[in-house]
Amino acid sequence: MNTYATVVLAAGKGTRMRSTLSKLLHPLAGQPLLSHVLKSVEAIPSTSVFAPWRESVATQRPIVVLGHEAEQILSAFGERCQYAMQHEQLGTGHAVLAAQEAVDALAPLPDTVLVCYGDTPLVRSEMLASVLAEHLSQQATVTFLTADADPSSDYGRVVRDSHGDVREIVEVKRATPEQLQITEVNSGVYCFERAWLWESLHALPRNASGEYYLTDLIAVAGVQERRIATVRGSLDETLGVNNRVQLAEAEQVMRRRILERHMYAGVTIIDPASTYIDEEVSIGTDTVVLPGTMITGKTTIGSWCRIGPGTTIYQSSIGERCVIRNSALEESVLEDEVSMGPFSHCRPGAHLARGVRMGNFGEVKNSYIGAETDVHHFSYVGDATVGEHVNIGAGTITSNYNGLTKEKYHTTIGDGAFIGCDTVFVPL
Ligand code: UD1
Ligand code: CA
Repeated sequence: MNTYATVVLAAGKGTRMRSTLSKLLHPLAGQPLLSHVLKSVEAIPSTSVFAPWRESVATQRPIVVLGHEAEQILSAFGERCQYAMQHEQLGTGHAVLAAQEAVDALAPLPDTVLVCYGDTPLVRSEMLASVLAEHLSQQATVTFLTADADPSSDYGRVVRDSHGDVREIVEVKRATPEQLQITEVNSGVYCFERAWLWESLHALPRNASGEYYLTDLIAVAGVQERRIATVRGSLDETLGVNNRVQLAEAEQVMRRRILERHMYAGVTIIDPASTYIDEEVSIGTDTVVLPGTMITGKTTIGSWCRIGPGTTIYQSSIGERCVIRNSALEESVLEDEVSMGPFSHCRPGAHLARGVRMGNFGEVKNSYIGAETDVHHFSYVGDATVGEHVNIGAGTITSNYNGLTKEKYHTTIGDGAFIGCDTVFVPL
């Protein structure tokens, strides 16, 4: 049986982000950076490359090493992970060592430790599984993922000898001008033989920067003539996010992936360049998304809808065959065949039943609108229950708010009512 544990490093300061929010919590496609890495780690067992690890300890939660802004991360991820604390941030090698106790407490004791960095959100589960598979088939002491980057990048350089064998990883700060020209870089995903990892980390001296670099273990393995294996990935998967320029680059790659997933699954996206869809959104087949549309949060959209142009939708549920033009929705429910817009707004708690037509400049908040009801032209419906087949005439207002006592009042309109233009409901 081959067993592995996963350690995800998330204790660093993230200084280059210049932020009070932990770097690992900055959103990427609507989800914190760290959650993308966790998702890939969690999905390793379901990949096709995973076969050799089938009986492994993959069901164990990943061990996340925390330090800087630990509470922020703890409250965001809670029980999803196990945690280890790195009290002082003395480098990536030091951070891995902080997880030793947690790893060694696992049963069965893992043979291999997979290490990833929390700031590498684009890495896919298939890639992680290939690093594990290569590690196993090569019977290596250490296996790590590399990529090709431009000589101006800030990644550690992979130094090989004349036989092509890896000798060391050199960080940019300590690289010679010749080494800086090396385009093969370290992506920050490693598999280590567990016993060797702890032994070597304990023996690792502080380097010239006063830190313990995990990358320095490669030279140690080289000197000991241990087997070092590598897997070549692409920067599209291994981009590290150290600053907000790289965050925007990662966002672009992630967004493109999400859009492609929807397109392959049968959603038409007219203009991917102006369409933004968050990770957790689901969209039914044959729905068309028009330009300038942003669909965020945990939103569900049924089949055969037309969404956009110029529409923003957050955390909402939309049925089948709906048409939404130039409108905004937040935390709302639209049943099937609702037509909305142009220029309408559903605020939290709006529920439009089947076949509602909400026209120009309408606003609905915390209200139920019954099936086949029309809310056209400049109307505001807030804190109301409206029946079926109602006609709400132009300029109708539910005056739900008493500015003095700050209370909200509820309006009820029965089935089939015909409300004339310019009506103000003043509920008591
Ligand atoms: C690191 C690698 C570099 C590689 C790059 C890939 C080292 C020394 N360098 O550089 O070779 O090309 O990633 O993206 O490993 N962290 C801790 N505790 C610490 C320091 C860091 O938990 O004391 C965590 C950070 O939160 C981060 C990760 O480790 O998630 C990587 O640290 P970072 O400072 O971003 O390393 P890079 O300079 O990007
Ligand atoms: Ca980094």
